[in-house]
Amino acid sequence: MSTNLQDSPMTEHPVRTPIKRTVLMCKPEYFTVVYRINPWMNPALPTDTSLAVSQWQALYDIYIELGFDVHLIDPIDGLPDMVYAANGGFVIDNKAYGASFTYPERQPEGPAYMDWFRDNGFEVHAPREINEGEGDFLLVGDVILAGTGFRSDSNSHEELAAISGREVITLKLVNPSFYHLDTAIAVLDDTNIAYLRSAFDAASLDILEARYPDAIIATESDAAILGLNSYSDGYNVVIASRATDFERQLRERGYNPIGVDLSELLLGGGGVKCCTLELRR
Ligand code: ARG
Repeated sequence: MSTNLQDSPMTEHPVRTPIKRTVLMCKPEYFTVVYRINPWMNPALPTDTSLAVSQWQALYDIYIELGFDVHLIDPIDGLPDMVYAANGGFVIDNKAYGASFTYPERQPEGPAYMDWFRDNGFEVHAPREINEGEGDFLLVGDVILAGTGFRSDSNSHEELAAISGREVITLKLVNPSFYHLDTAIAVLDDTNIAYLRSAFDAASLDILEARYPDAIIATESDAAILGLNSYSDGYNVVIASRATDFERQLRERGYNPIGVDLSELLLGGGGVKCCTLELRR
């Protein structure tokens, strides 16, 4: 892996510093598409579970190579979306705010993830409100950006604010293809994000422009393969290998994009970030 920051000598940017991450993942041993709860899913199309596993394994291997501490939750037969660990909760200061899923097909995942958090020493906060964890909650420095419109109820934003003691900023998603906030915003470090403008309503765009004037603006074509659904340690940014414009913009700003192909998991409507739940002790 290159640590050379001289790739784009014309561009001035701060030195990017990687921070070791601790994450939770779930091997897609039971991955398939048998229901449709987002526009990416089509139960009529075949899926290849062993390909999903090998693509997921490549992501896991990258995280290990980056020095991350990767924890695993056992997959459960009959919960094909459990691979999208990001939806299993939101964890901060050793507190785990549990998920309460929108659609019945995924609802058993909430308790399964809460059991894992409890068994691994986290203080579990069972949710009162509908929310899909880090799918809709993204920590950027001290604030939590929170999505609503398709999945998480905006009441869950207040619930998380009370539990976490953090400022929670509500953003409204308007395009069903970008139904979770982590499909429309990528967090790069404590102060920088990338986002897809067309995924948000006008009021949310005003907030994003005011707070993040230097944000990377993603192209429609990169977003259309869930290119924003990426995971950064502050320097290394693991992204969909086909998100070539995002890759270029990251390089220009001194990040180190690392491409991975999760085409099979895209059939369920998820990418890199969806497979990754950050654990913050
Ligand atoms: N099939 C899953 C669903 O629609 C995909 C979840 C993707 N996860 C994410 N963090 N965006 O719920």
